[in-house]
Amino acid sequence: RNAPPATLVIFGASGDLTRRKLLPAVESLARHNRLPGEFALVGVARTPMEDHQFAESALGGRSLADKAQLQGGIRYVSGGYDNPETYKRLAEVLDELDATRGTSGNRIFYLSTPAEAFEPVINGLAGAGLNHPREGSFSRLVIEKPYGNDLRTAHELDAVVHAAFDEPNVFRIDHYLGKDTVQNVLALRFANAIFQPIWNRSWVDHVQITVAETLGVGSRGGFYEHAGAMRDIVQNHVLQVLALSLMEPPASFDAEGLRNEKVKLLQAIRLPTDRDIADLAVRGQYTRGGTREDLMAGYRDEVGVDPLSRTETYAAMRLNVDNWRWAGVPFYVRTGKRLPARVTEVALQFQRPPHLPIPTNQLTELDADALILRIQPNEGISLRFGAKVPGHSFRVRTASMDFSYEQTFREESPEAYERLLLDALLGDPTLFIRTDEVEQCWRIVDPIIEHWKNDMSPIPTYEAASWGPTDADRLIGRSGRKWRNEI
Ligand code: BG6
Repeated sequence: RNAPPATLVIFGASGDLTRRKLLPAVESLARHNRLPGEFALVGVARTPMEDHQFAESALGGRSLADKAQLQGGIRYVSGGYDNPETYKRLAEVLDELDATRGTSGNRIFYLSTPAEAFEPVINGLAGAGLNHPREGSFSRLVIEKPYGNDLRTAHELDAVVHAAFDEPNVFRIDHYLGKDTVQNVLALRFANAIFQPIWNRSWVDHVQITVAETLGVGSRGGFYEHAGAMRDIVQNHVLQVLALSLMEPPASFDAEGLRNEKVKLLQAIRLPTDRDIADLAVRGQYTRGGTREDLMAGYRDEVGVDPLSRTETYAAMRLNVDNWRWAGVPFYVRTGKRLPARVTEVALQFQRPPHLPIPTNQLTELDADALILRIQPNEGISLRFGAKVPGHSFRVRTASMDFSYEQTFREESPEAYERLLLDALLGDPTLFIRTDEVEQCWRIVDPIIEHWKNDMSPIPTYEAASWGPTDADRLIGRSGRKWRNEI
């Protein structure tokens, strides 16, 4: 899969995401010869810089600038996002690149700026006519999260976006969808016959989805204060992984077929009522913790964070999916910063056998059967089941059958952003978020965020490097279940 001729324009070119993820992704695509000779890269940002400085400083020691296909194809435009001059100059640079590099009028505009700049940039592009491609060319918009701050603002953003770009040309990023292991949820479920019969309420007791991070908010305190775990991770990454794990089989993996199924699943998620919320959703904020050698600051002491902040750095929820397949099955999801392990996984815990012909004192250390999809790290899948312990007595203990990506495949996993950039260049929207998905995800998290905003009781806390607030244990413990913390 090689990309067609095109110019990739990155707004927010001097930003953190561009440096950490986007430019390395472009470099890797170039190194693997997935970019055509007729490719160009243009950075746009407020910071003044020359073309060669952008190429060098942004790319650090990486080899992109040396790549034959990018020689002379990296440009930089500095200017304010709400200044029409910026877009006039950008248009000139794009025309020049079309003439000198044969980029054919194909453009990808990648918005990697803070969310406040989305609207001025889209309006600026439209003002200069850059949203309208020449006959036979394309002009696409790739847009980073957060997509709105709630349902209302997501609608407002959609209105701005759709005034300039048709939905098929809008590529909303959730970088989790670019991960091989997230796509593998689809392979496991739909390229095999053996899992489908047990993937339902008759066999599954409950499901746990965990997105745990060991990092704190780092230098992103200012941004995170207005986001919190619910907007930063649950509204997008968690609900996307959940939708792929629980949706019905699509007839085909084309963009609309797949996204239709995700939307149907999200629509079936029951909204908590204001009275239920306290029982169904838990938040927390990390305080100072860790070991004496590695003592970590509390959230309120991080740079850019209000010392009285009420922003959640941890969120857990119990969700119900009201459809034929999942009625009655609880789904527990949680995410947090400064947890003891970095792990993203989906764990299906199966029901216990209806009758056990083994004396219960022989069953010590036997957990319920479970299938664990390890999204990251240590990517793979484990099936946990009971096995006879060697010896004269009939003791049964949990054993595990493990599939590891690293041991099984020689092929390298591309970085999520690499895969998504290539898909955007190819015009394949399958792994991007459609407008109705965004809407459904806000529908689910909005009432909880709103409830928390109005709840003036002190925010529950947890020590850095612990598994979240005790309220989260109560949330799952109410039904006699426990979080998988032995990860
Ligand atoms: C981003 C969030 O979307 O995902 C960050 O804004 C988070 O807060 C990151 O750290 C996690 O991504 P990954 O790929 O490291 O799991």
